[in-house]
Amino acid sequence: SEPLRIALAGLGTVGGGVVRLIETNAELIARRAGRPIVITAISARNRGKNRGFDMARYAWEDDMVILGEREDVDVVVELVGGADGPALALARTTFEAGKALVTANKAMVANHGIELASRAEAAKTAFKFEAAVAGGIPVIKGLKEGAAANYIHRVYGILNGTCNYILSTMEDTGRDFADVLAEAQAKGFAEADPSFDIDGIDAAHKLAILSSIAFGTAVDFPGVTITGIRRLLAADIAQADALGYYIRLIGMAETEVDAEGKRRLFQRVHPHLVHRDHPLAHVDGATNAVVAEGNFVGRLLFQGAGAGDGPTASAVVADLIDIARGDIGAPFSIPAAELDMAARADTGHRTGK
Ligand code: HSE
Repeated sequence: SEPLRIALAGLGTVGGGVVRLIETNAELIARRAGRPIVITAISARNRGKNRGFDMARYAWEDDMVILGEREDVDVVVELVGGADGPALALARTTFEAGKALVTANKAMVANHGIELASRAEAAKTAFKFEAAVAGGIPVIKGLKEGAAANYIHRVYGILNGTCNYILSTMEDTGRDFADVLAEAQAKGFAEADPSFDIDGIDAAHKLAILSSIAFGTAVDFPGVTITGIRRLLAADIAQADALGYYIRLIGMAETEVDAEGKRRLFQRVHPHLVHRDHPLAHVDGATNAVVAEGNFVGRLLFQGAGAGDGPTASAVVADLIDIARGDIGAPFSIPAAELDMAARADTGHRTGK
C-alpha cells in the first residue's frame, strides 16, 4: 500500500531521534500502521551540522515553512520549537495545504492550540501533539482514548524533567541549584532557555494542554498560575525532609466552584510538598509522572521519560501511526459546558491527595 510520506522540520535531539526510530523500526512500524512510514523531505536551521545520519537520503528544503506544500509530503512533523516564528508559520501553511501536522511543540500548542485546531478541522486533517506533553508518556492518548468514558476530576503531576532532576539531585546530594542546573543542561533535557524550565513556564505549557484534554475545555495557558523553583534553597529541601516531605514542582488542574457558585477550571504550577508515601515522591531524575482521577476508572498514574530523543520520538511516531491508519482524531476542544456536567457527575472517586 501507499507509504505515508513525512517531512521533518527541525533536526535537533528529537528530530534525530525520529529519523533513527523510523529507520530502525521500519518493519514493525509498517506492520502496525498498515503501510510504510517514510521520510521524504527534511529541513533545519543549519544544513551543515553533522547529525549522525545520512542526510543525503532525504530531499533538503531550504525554506521549512513550505514543507507542507511539497507534492511528496502527506504529513509535516514540526520539531523546531518556539511558540511563534517559523514553527507557527509552518503549522499554518501546512493546514492551508490540507496536510496533517504532528508536533512536539508545547509552547506553540499552549499558545495557539485553538487556532491551529480550528484550521485543522477546516482542512479536515489531523493535528496531533502527543510528544508535547510529558515526552514519551502516552498521556494524551491515555486520557483521550483510555479514559474517554470518564469525567476527570483532577489531573496533576511532574511535568518538567529539568526541575525534577534539580530538586531530586539537590535532595540526594545537598549540591546547590546552579551546579545541578548546569548538569541538566549538559544532559540535554533543559530547554534552550532554561528559565522556561526553572520558572515553571514549560510545565505550565504542558499543564494547559493536558487540562484541555482532561476537561474538554479550550486550552488556557494565560489562566495558569505559575511559581517556579528559582528561589528554593537547600535549606527548604532539608526542612521539608525533616517533616517527611519532598519538594517537587507540580502542575495541577481541577474544577472548583468559585465565589459566584460557578464551576471553573483552576490550573497552577507550584513547588509542592509531596509526602514520602505518595507515588510522586518516588519519581526521581528527569522522569515525568501524571496522575488523573476519573469518576469510573479511579486514579491513574502515568510515568516515564518526559524528555530525550528516544522517548519523545516514540510519541511523535505513535501519532504518525495513527495518521497512517486514517485516524485524524477528534476535535481538540469541546465547549466549556462540560465543566457543568463534570460538576453534576462529581460523585465518584476522589482518591488521595
Ligand atoms: N525541558 C523539558 C523538561 C523538556 O525538562 O521536561 C521536555 O519538554
